[in-house]
Amino acid sequence: MKHFSLLFIFLVILLATSYSDAFTRNSFPKDFLFGAATSAYQWEGAVAEDGRTPSVWDTFSNSYDTGNGDVTSDGYHKYKEDVKLMATMGLESFRFSISWSRLIPNGRGLINPKGLLFYNNLIKDLKSHGIEPHVTLYHYDLPQSLEDEYGGWINRKIIEDFTAYADVCFREFGEDVKLWTTINEATIFAIGSYDQGTAPPGHCSPNKFVNCSTGNSSTEPYIAGHNILLAHASASKLYKLKYKSKQKGSIGLSIFAFGLSPYTNSKDDEIATQRAKTFLYGWMLKPLVFGDYPDEMKKTVGSRLPVFSEEESEQVKGSSDFIGIIHYTTFYVTNHQPSASLFPSMGEGFFKDMGVYIIPTGNSSFLVWEATPWGLEGILEYIKQSYNNPPVYILENGMPMVRDSTLQDTQRIEYIQAYIDAVLNAMKNGSDTRGYFVWSMVDVYEILSGYTTSFGMYHVNFSDPGRKRTPKLSASWYTGFLNGTIDVASQDTIQLWSNFSVSSSL
Ligand code: BGC
Repeated sequence: MKHFSLLFIFLVILLATSYSDAFTRNSFPKDFLFGAATSAYQWEGAVAEDGRTPSVWDTFSNSYDTGNGDVTSDGYHKYKEDVKLMATMGLESFRFSISWSRLIPNGRGLINPKGLLFYNNLIKDLKSHGIEPHVTLYHYDLPQSLEDEYGGWINRKIIEDFTAYADVCFREFGEDVKLWTTINEATIFAIGSYDQGTAPPGHCSPNKFVNCSTGNSSTEPYIAGHNILLAHASASKLYKLKYKSKQKGSIGLSIFAFGLSPYTNSKDDEIATQRAKTFLYGWMLKPLVFGDYPDEMKKTVGSRLPVFSEEESEQVKGSSDFIGIIHYTTFYVTNHQPSASLFPSMGEGFFKDMGVYIIPTGNSSFLVWEATPWGLEGILEYIKQSYNNPPVYILENGMPMVRDSTLQDTQRIEYIQAYIDAVLNAMKNGSDTRGYFVWSMVDVYEILSGYTTSFGMYHVNFSDPGRKRTPKLSASWYTGFLNGTIDVASQDTIQLWSNFSVSSSL
């Protein structure tokens, strides 16, 4: 008996100590921002209303049978309701994007007063509920008119047009908007849109996953990537010269970042993983921080990789006040062809140049993404060590589930809390991460899967003309976490508790 009580006291001490590992909202700095995200084409609907003209995403989605964003969650008409949901949830920041062709229907020139009004109303409504707007200027939706006129992102003319569009946004909304992301997930945008053909405008070489009507996967992703960096840098320069001292905001570029981890502990796979990091992160991060592409990419891609002039290099270097990270899952990397590799995909292009094989972790598939919080921790550590520890925002993280399958999305809750824990760990190790956004606030039209999977914390009934919103369990969980009533026990603690119940029942 005496032994038992000693054991019991020991276990209580152990549990109490490990509970100090549990975390709450207050484990994070007060000015850290917890938010949720959407994007214009995926959330707004109203594609032909009040002067908006088509974007390349309208054209792209209408050429496939996965549905389109014509109405989607109807955020254009239901934004007030959504802002109320956010306020009730205690959301600290809402990340959304501006539809360029709603604000400036011809891509350049005249501003659409109704577009202007919509974004002003949305921003004012967020502010009046104490929610910080985080605005993305570009999320896959180039005005179709600019694509038709000169080919969009693969033409340098985009730099001037993007900067003029950004100028309008800074001027009109900059009093209230302190956080700007120029371009969403720039890396995978260039790859998905110009190498794989799976994102608008859908360019690729022949014999890829999809059939594209035009494209060149071995050159276009690098040309688009280059113009993306230059357009971002140009908008950032303009912001700094004309607005920053008065508006006091910050501006950054976001990249898509899979976690990357060696498949085996061989030296070979370690080298392959470094190479994948260079291609998938360094391609954009190195120019943003040090002004040029990684040497390894220059060597491999050769003359297909555009070259920065000295002036461009100076302009790109230091152009991001923060780095936005879009992260969903992790892949293993190997040098040797395994049976189940996703990449290199067929044919020439970015992944062939990268020259390594990438394998899903655990049970990841198109619909199920394995939560690999250690993968995100690895990215944050890598950015801290290799790129001078810049401020970082996790601008998207979330879990797809089959739509309408359940409102009890406990798997999603486990996923989100594990990732928030990973962010906290990275911060304890010195990462300057300043915010975390769940993708997505409500169910939206999805870029790869249309309406078959969704990530929303609120279910949207897409068969109902009123697009009724219903909270999923994840919405209640996030609400509790944000208002401090939910303590998240660390995995260790959960493990200890279960060990305790097993041992005490013996
Ligand atoms: C994109 C979103 C998309 C999400 C989920 C992100 O990479 O920015 O537009 O809906 O992934 O697939």
